[in-house]
Amino acid sequence: MRRPMVAGNWKMHGTRASVAELINGLSEQVMPAGVDVAVFPSCLHISQVVDGLAGLAIAVGAQDCATEAQQGALTGEVATSQLHDARCSLVLVGHSERRSLLGEGDEVVTRKFAAAQFSGLLPVLCVGETLAQREAGQTLEVVAAQLSVVADALGVEVFAAAVIAYEPVWAIGTGLTASPEQAQEVHAAIRGQLAAKSPELAGKVRIIYGGSVKAASAAELFGMPDIDGGLVGGASLNADEFGAICRAAGS
Ligand code: 13P
Repeated sequence: MRRPMVAGNWKMHGTRASVAELINGLSEQVMPAGVDVAVFPSCLHISQVVDGLAGLAIAVGAQDCATEAQQGALTGEVATSQLHDARCSLVLVGHSERRSLLGEGDEVVTRKFAAAQFSGLLPVLCVGETLAQREAGQTLEVVAAQLSVVADALGVEVFAAAVIAYEPVWAIGTGLTASPEQAQEVHAAIRGQLAAKSPELAGKVRIIYGGSVKAASAAELFGMPDIDGGLVGGASLNADEFGAICRAAGS
């Protein structure tokens, strides 16, 4: 049985004051025991969130990292060892906003993934197709290629210590959630791709869904056989809504 994970990606949101409010709200939520819950604040707020959530079963991750594990002369970047030192335990890698808006390519994504694991962080590798790619019938091919880049460069075994997030670009921040069947099809294909190399690993790896997940849609999505939880953007900025999504993964 895979343990579900629900993660909140706060993206470029938050001030010290609003983050303090969100921490308070999260601390009042009843979180399900059988679910891994994590939040990804902006880098600026990681320490505040780590301190504010101390004692709660909510892990803290970073939204991005340098391609390097070690500290060095790389202005503006944050090494994965620094994230580990700041008590982060996860990091998002290859989020579509970074791929499409910031030009992050496959090689960079792969190096970040490797740096994260080198520092003992759990990388959450984000993959997903654009609307044009879906309409052209290329969804499975695009997602398979994004996964292959990392698997071919680092070896499929690296996914034993990673999470995969399927996030169709057209569903992110648009209010258009993929239907449970649409998401399940891609999740099953991802698992099948890993199973071709290692059936045991494929059965264990968590594949979570992201793209306009709300409390109202969560239970149905998480009820699909290959959907092991969610990566939540907008709805994770509301503690009650996020708590409800986490509870949906536990039911
Ligand atoms: P939304 O839930 O706001 O669509 O964002 C999804 C996402 O990109 C999470 O990483």
